[in-house]
Amino acid sequence: MATSPHRPTGEPRDLTAHLMDLAMGHLFSAALRTAVHHRIADHLAEGPRTVEQLAGTTGTHAPHLRRVLRCLATRGVFREDAAGAYQLTPAAQQLRTDAPDSLCAAVLMATDQLFLRTSAAMPEAVARGGASFEWIFGAPLFEHLLSDPAARRLFDDGMASVSARVDEAVAAACAFPANGTVVDVGGGRGGLLRAALRRHPQLTGVLFDQAPPLADHLLGGDELKGRWRTQEGDFFESVPEGGDVYVLKHVLHDWPDEPCRRILRSCHRAMAAGSRLLVVDSVLPPGNAPHFGKTMDVAMMAVLDGQERTAEEFAALLSAAGFRLTRTLPTSAFPSIVEAVAE
Ligand SMILES: C[S@@+](CC[C@H](N)C(=O)[O-])C[C@H]1O[C@@H](n2cnc3c(N)ncnc32)[C@H](O)[C@@H]1O
Repeated sequence: MATSPHRPTGEPRDLTAHLMDLAMGHLFSAALRTAVHHRIADHLAEGPRTVEQLAGTTGTHAPHLRRVLRCLATRGVFREDAAGAYQLTPAAQQLRTDAPDSLCAAVLMATDQLFLRTSAAMPEAVARGGASFEWIFGAPLFEHLLSDPAARRLFDDGMASVSARVDEAVAAACAFPANGTVVDVGGGRGGLLRAALRRHPQLTGVLFDQAPPLADHLLGGDELKGRWRTQEGDFFESVPEGGDVYVLKHVLHDWPDEPCRRILRSCHRAMAAGSRLLVVDSVLPPGNAPHFGKTMDVAMMAVLDGQERTAEEFAALLSAAGFRLTRTLPTSAFPSIVEAVAE
């Protein structure tokens, strides 16, 4: 019988293996990137395949591929069956390029040099503060993306991919009104707005962002015709007026407190009395409780000098910009919804 890698107290039995597993965590991300790069999940869509079959159809080296898949199977991505063939797991299903909630683009973004180089500089970032991205690439992330179309596409593809499943979960949990207008500030390609408009047929929407994600928005087609518009702009200057609900999803976590207050004040100026603000981000649990947001937080630190926040930190930030936090709603995905009203 297999022995648990942990003692009943939760402490790992083999501390060396545990720490070295953590130290070599970048190898899991490299293995994941390899599987996406060679579209392994697509080739398992019809059922289990031997490594030799997979290597034949993907033009890869079978012994190496076997070792990558064996490594990923230890984390629940792919599974070796009793006959020695590999099959998809629920996690691996999301690595199919044709899945509606495909995470392929998100994996390619998260494992790109753009972010790997940034996180490799973390010891220096912690010594001096600030975002290592800026020293390495010579400009803050969003400025860099405006001057590098290929990096911008990688980022926008990646964000849309991370959001594919999350947007449905958020739209289901958000208290959108039956009618009125939602303004999605920094809404990217509009996945959340699309999910909200689909759920509420009387709702209209404004997708507000920089030009590149708007050029590839997801709102087209007959289904939502006449119910949305896009507007390009800078949320530090102003955001569209006249909305009943304003959404900031994965926007505040990109910034330290002072720029966040400027974004929030732009929203405050645009909002009529009675309109609501929905901030969609991780809400960090206190203490040692695990939460994906605690990993995302150090990514935000390195890339943008941004941060994930606790409920208390959100309340203080919102209050400094003239809002009152009214409630925090969980979703079935990792972000929560922090609801506020303008005072
Ligand atoms: C992390 S992405 C989140 C996108 C989307 N809300 C989502 O959850 O998928 C942050 C967004 O903020 C936008 N953004 C950054 N700086 C901006 C600015 N000054 N004015 C307007 N949008 C900006 C980016 O273009 C990007 O789409």
